[in-house]
Amino acid sequence: MSSNIKSPRGMNDLLPPDSAKWLYFENACRTLFERYGYAEVRTPMVESTALFARGIGESTDIVEKEMYTFPDLKGRSLTMRPEMTAGCARSYIQHAVYKRGPITRWFYIGPMFRYERMQTGRYRQFHQVGVEAFGSDSASVDAEQIAMVYALYSQLGVKDLDLYINSVGDAEDRPRYRQALVDFLTPMRDKLCADCQRRLEKNPLRILDCKVPGCIEIVAGAPSVLDALGERSRAQFDAVQSHLSSYGVAFTVDTRIVRGLDYYTGTVFELKSSSGTLGTQSTLVGGGRYDNLVESLGGPPTPGVGFALGIERAVLSLPGEAGDYANKPLAFLAARGDAAREHALALAHRLRLAGLRIEVEHRQVGMKAQFKRADKLGARFVIALGDDELSSGQIKIRDMSQGSETEIALDAVESELKRRAP
Ligand code: HAM
Repeated sequence: MSSNIKSPRGMNDLLPPDSAKWLYFENACRTLFERYGYAEVRTPMVESTALFARGIGESTDIVEKEMYTFPDLKGRSLTMRPEMTAGCARSYIQHAVYKRGPITRWFYIGPMFRYERMQTGRYRQFHQVGVEAFGSDSASVDAEQIAMVYALYSQLGVKDLDLYINSVGDAEDRPRYRQALVDFLTPMRDKLCADCQRRLEKNPLRILDCKVPGCIEIVAGAPSVLDALGERSRAQFDAVQSHLSSYGVAFTVDTRIVRGLDYYTGTVFELKSSSGTLGTQSTLVGGGRYDNLVESLGGPPTPGVGFALGIERAVLSLPGEAGDYANKPLAFLAARGDAAREHALALAHRLRLAGLRIEVEHRQVGMKAQFKRADKLGARFVIALGDDELSSGQIKIRDMSQGSETEIALDAVESELKRRAP
């Protein structure tokens, strides 16, 4: 027997009513981000592999082992985007967007692809909403973005939010800190996990972020990145903190936040929720400054800052069931007999064109079954049509939550429903 074909591992279908919760969240992002001056950008889902190798960094986990990379029919190496900051920077340079104005603010929504080990909140095709601001090195932009995304989750009722911020320093501070860290860790090299032993040569900062208990213990005594910050980075980081305080956003400085992508300079941050619905994948949002990315991809020196959030994790953290977020029909038209059914179908069409959410019965079933279905769909009103109603021109509107009925003229249905619509 042939086995049924399933979706690839880690790549999920999104079905109603779950899609309602997603749409609600996406709309909340759009509405809020637009208020802060961000406009939507869409870039290809596939980019040249070199973009990610250069943009994200050759020695990051993403580039080393998590990319869906394939040659096209002409042998060019392409990669399904694992994130969108590099693609936005590429697009910003390609279209010389820097010539259009001093600051460019974009947001995006879409699928990303990483070949990761799966668990709750971690998938191989996942969806991000993100923002990027190009052109300003002001700490007020960092803080504004952080305050904006913090407000997004708290306004949607997500509980137990914790904001962690850090600075990874600029191009001058980084080598200094890297050396201090290598000097500290090298005598304990043998006690590090195999991955961290490798990281010690290639990307020592990532050791700070390792989840293996032995490594966590060793790292607890490591020198702090903040001690390696030069004057400029220090001032920038202080400014981010004072802006956050004036926005009333509570935060914790956590020097172990280093992020998994190499383009960061200065501020980095993560927003987590400890509410428990997320399992071990408690990071809702990650972001930071990347003042050298545009230049390193061949553009003019352009500072940048942004963040991305995972929609799957956001939806897991939102209160309530998916069905609570679905729009319910305003009215269900139930009909008895052929003539009434024909009338109900035409009336439903007219009411929908007038902007109302209407359900109508297409099956030839009795009134009881139709009322049951109306109830299941959560319709606020049911209008029953039969031969009597057609000849008298009077119909009854039943309010399903109150169980009350009102009689009105058949040709007043539209105005009556509009009057009662929320
Ligand atoms: P990231 O930390 O790799 O940063 O991802 C941001 C968020 O995407 C994570 O906090 C998480 O919510 C979600 N996410 C990441 N991987 C997965 C996965 N496998 N399954 C489900 N959700 C996931 C970036 O991608 C940067 N581009 C963020 C950024 C924008 N920095 C500056 N601008």
